[in-house]
Amino acid sequence: MSDNKIKFAVVGCGHIGKRHAEMITRNAESQLIALVDVKSKEHLGIESYDVPFFASLEELLASDLAKQIDVINIASPNGFHAEHALLALDAHKHVVIEKPMALNKQDAEKVIYKALHVHKQVFAVMQNRYSPPSAWIKDVVQQGVLGEIYMVQLNCYWNRDDRYYKADSWHGKKDLDGGTLFTQFSHFIDLMYWLFGDIDNIQSRLTNFNHSHLTEFKEDSGVIQFDFVNGGLGCINFSTSIWDKNLESSMTIIAENGSVKIGGQYMDKVEVCHIKDYTMPELAPTNPGNDYGAYKGSAANHHFIIENVVDVLKNRATITTNALEGLKVVDIIERMYN
Ligand SMILES: NC(=O)c1ccc[n+]([C@@H]2O[C@H](COP(=O)([O-])OP(=O)(O)OC[C@H]3O[C@@H](n4cnc5c(N)ncnc54)[C@H](O)[C@@H]3O)[C@@H](O)[C@H]2O)c1
Repeated sequence: MSDNKIKFAVVGCGHIGKRHAEMITRNAESQLIALVDVKSKEHLGIESYDVPFFASLEELLASDLAKQIDVINIASPNGFHAEHALLALDAHKHVVIEKPMALNKQDAEKVIYKALHVHKQVFAVMQNRYSPPSAWIKDVVQQGVLGEIYMVQLNCYWNRDDRYYKADSWHGKKDLDGGTLFTQFSHFIDLMYWLFGDIDNIQSRLTNFNHSHLTEFKEDSGVIQFDFVNGGLGCINFSTSIWDKNLESSMTIIAENGSVKIGGQYMDKVEVCHIKDYTMPELAPTNPGNDYGAYKGSAANHHFIIENVVDVLKNRATITTNALEGLKVVDIIERMYN
């Protein structure tokens, strides 16, 4: 029976890598067979996983264990995602890549190019799509219930201060983190792209209120305006300068047949639904945000990602967030920064 299990290795065993390991272990059709991190197992507090542990992905891929692996989950810092994905694909493994897929479009393209050549799947991690308000609004938009979309406003107001940006962390480093749109807000840009498609005519005003001593980025906040290629105006207001704790992540949609606002700390609540001839269904409660020490992050939905990988590799489903969607989010963020 265990031979039918999809066999996974996880690269990067920090906050999110541990969640991947845990969700793989809990899924009846998947098996965790290796872990990789540059830090020791003891330092990471993952001694309870009784699987071989490697200090680098190269070391794992050179080992006898490598041939047993079906999927490599990449949960290392952002700046390593493309490099690790290319190594894994070169070894003919499917890859699950934490968000963002890469820190520039060119690297994301290299990953897709390689995957197509070796006939392996690339799964991007955008687990907020599984939250009930996200799934509901996707359906509403797809069915055309809202009619023409006039305006979409994203507000992303989170707290990230010196408790988060520590000197020895990859957070805040230009080459490993990439910026607040990549690390904090790419889930919300993904949701917007998923719902309304690509954007154009981007005008960004970025500023740094109180992070100059904490990060290598030029921005901690910004106001960005754009057109949707499919019609309508959009904007994103974002900041990590919110004092003490996250304020909100929200999306307001103004459309021909009505208005919708999805809010809460991580877009977990439908705050307004006022649509012509439409009654809002009862939604299941949203999973709370991933606990990130003092911080809340995006939805704790990683079990759905592992389920989707298993289902796709067993030919029961299609990929929830495919490589092209992963690339588009990187492309949109890159254009917002440029
Ligand atoms: N999907 C989500 O909601 C979500 C939430 C948080 C983080 N993330 C993403 O997950 C990734 C990891 O974030 P985190 O919060 O777990 O960070 P973290 O710092 O807690 O963990 C990163 C781990 O990678 C290890 N690492 C560093 N370089 C490595 C290398 N070359 N090879 C192998 N391991 C290496 C570090 O030692 C560390 O243990 C990031 O890309 C981040 O953007 C996603």
